[in-house]
Parts: sequence; structure tokens; C-alpha cells
Amino acid sequence: MNRKNTSKAKKSSAIRTIRRNRRMENRIGKHVYATRTVRKFQEEKPLDRSVLESWIDLARCGGSARNGQVLKYMIVTDPGQRNQLFPTLAWAGYLKDWHGPEPGERPSGYIICLLDRKLLQGNEKEAYFDCGIATQSVLLAAVEQGVFGCRIGAFSPKLGSLLNLPEHLDVLLVLALGYPAEKVQLEQVRGDGDIRYWRDEEGTFHVPKRSLVDILVAPNF
Ligand SMILES: Cc1cc2nc3c(=O)[nH]c(=O)nc-3n(C[C@H](O)[C@H](O)[C@H](O)COP(=O)(O)O)c2cc1C
Repeated sequence: MNRKNTSKAKKSSAIRTIRRNRRMENRIGKHVYATRTVRKFQEEKPLDRSVLESWIDLARCGGSARNGQVLKYMIVTDPGQRNQLFPTLAWAGYLKDWHGPEPGERPSGYIICLLDRKLLQGNEKEAYFDCGIATQSVLLAAVEQGVFGCRIGAFSPKLGSLLNLPEHLDVLLVLALGYPAEKVQLEQVRGDGDIRYWRDEEGTFHVPKRSLVDILVAPNF
């Protein structure tokens, strides 16, 4: 079934919007719930570099394996640099007929998460965990100020050379940021288990999440 084009599917009882529940009763819960991936932005609304720095300053205080703090961050807000960066990024792999935000709805800024190999003591895997923690801190702080983002792991290998990075720095993840220009809604994964996100005719982006019972594993030892 082509869910993207079928408004009927939207109304289907199988697709249930996740309702306000216990998660929403505390402030952190509200933030986590609100911190959705957004891929269309109000590009004309600028992001202040100092604000992005303040979010990185927060991420700096998060956990890291061995307290290694192997991550470095590059902030990009300059329009010319943003235009150079954009073509190296791949957007929403499940949406085969959408190739990313159009001019005017592209990110107003980026935080590029870098691994400093000179600081790495353990396995590279540890840096990826750190990066997940750090980007979630940034996104949570951003949402409080009405800014949303999209992590981009699918970037072109050309990005490293575009950025002119010294040898010890590697790109781990790109965080695209901006004021949102699309609505995102969580819903429950249906019986068929399809976790692919989709966009409906009105442009609302739907993100299926597995239910709590489906992700809890009973100890069996
Ligand atoms: C490690 C990681 C890499 C991701 N890479 C991409 C990407 O390359 N392109 C993209 O459009 N979205 C990317 N995303 C965003 C996910 O598709 C998104 O988190 C997922 O659809 C769930 O939506 P939500 O963040 O609103 O819960 C990435 C997310 C994570 C955590």
C-alpha cells in the first residue's frame, strides 16, 4: 500500500497517533517527545552562532566513554558554506521521490560532529555512542528555543575533503538545524511492523514508533 498518497491510510484505525500519556507529565518527557527530526526549515530565519555554541557547551558536559571527550564540533552558518555543504547530505532514505529540502526550506545552520583520532584511546564505536549522547543534548536544548534538527549519517565521503580537515579529524555525523517548516507526528507501528516514516498529502511527516511492550525483553535466566 502506498501510504504516502493515501489519505484513507491516515484515518485508518491501525494508525494511532500516540496520545498524551505519562511521558508528557514531566518536563523532560515533553522535551524528549517534542524532539523530532525535521527536514524542512525556514531557511531565511538565521541561527546565531553563539546560540549554537551554547548548545555545544551543554553537550560538552554529557557522558563519554572513558571520559575521553573525543568529539570536536564545527559550526557552519555562513550561507555560502551552507550551499557547499548541502549537496553532500542525503535526506530521508525511505522517501524515494523526495530528494531533500528545496531552496528556501534548507537548514540555516549545521553542527558537524568530528572525531579527534588523536584523543581516541578505545574502540571507535565508543565515539559513536558519545556522538549520540551529544547530539541528543544539542537537539533537546535547541527544541526549547524552537529550533529543530536532523542528524545526517548519510553524508558523502567528499565532505571530509570539502571541509579541509586535518588528518586526525573525521566526520562522524552532521546535525542540520533550523526553525521548522513541517509538522511531525509520532504514531504507533502497525501490525505489519513497518517502521518507515512517510509524509501525507498535507505534508505532515509521520514517524512510526514501536510500542513499549514490543521493546521490553523479559529476563530469562
Ligand atoms: C545516527 C542517525 C543517523 C541518521 N542519519 C540520517 C540521514 O542520513 N538522513 C536523514 O534524513 N535522517 C537521518 N536520521 C534521522 C532518522 O531518520 C530519524 O531519527 C528517524 O526517522 C526517527 O525520527 P525521529 O528522530 O523524529 O524520532 C538519522 C538519525 C540517527 C539517529
